[in-house]
Amino acid sequence: MSMKRSVLYKTLGMVLLTAGLSTISSCEKSNTKSAESMGTQSMSTAVAGENKSGEALSGEELYARDCQVCHSMRPPAKSAPPIVGLASRFRTVYGNKDDAVAAMVSFMKAPDAANTSLGPQAIRRFGLMPAMSMPDEELEKVAGWLWDQYDPNFVPGGGYR
Ligand code: HEC
Repeated sequence: MSMKRSVLYKTLGMVLLTAGLSTISSCEKSNTKSAESMGTQSMSTAVAGENKSGEALSGEELYARDCQVCHSMRPPAKSAPPIVGLASRFRTVYGNKDDAVAAMVSFMKAPDAANTSLGPQAIRRFGLMPAMSMPDEELEKVAGWLWDQYDPNFVPGGGYR
């Protein structure tokens, strides 16, 4: 290998190494950032989230950010009842969106076994949901979105028609 070429390879190696390191450190930065924003969420001064264009997050985006980690859309369940099951249950219990949304919002702020709209077996199976420290506007939006996920083909208990 000529001198020139080995110098070239060494330089290239350094460049790649530096690029690799900076990728790692930017990953660490973004992890820190999400940990920080999760910390903010657990305080009472919750700030409404925005997407990349600076618009308020939609109900679906809020679900992806704050609920999906526990609630799958459909069975099988993760660590909480799936969304279609909840939509079906709230429809049965309340019959109208306004009352269902109000019940969901007050439950999400302060989950309490005495206030559940599900049967006692849900809390026995999954444990009590943790409180969501989100602004009221976001709680209302995500609850309204949840109500809209009602699927008439879903059979409570897990299956589909
Ligand atoms: C850390 C896991 C977790 C997260 C995150 C979570 N939930 Fe839950 N959720 C649960 C569990 C467990 C239950 C079932 C037990 C209960 O009702 O408390 C539940 C129950 C519910 C219920 C029924 C409440 C009732 O009347 O008993 C609603 C509505 C709900 N979740 C909506 C949401 C929404 C919307 C989000 C996101 C903003 C969310 N959850 C985030 C775990 C979670």
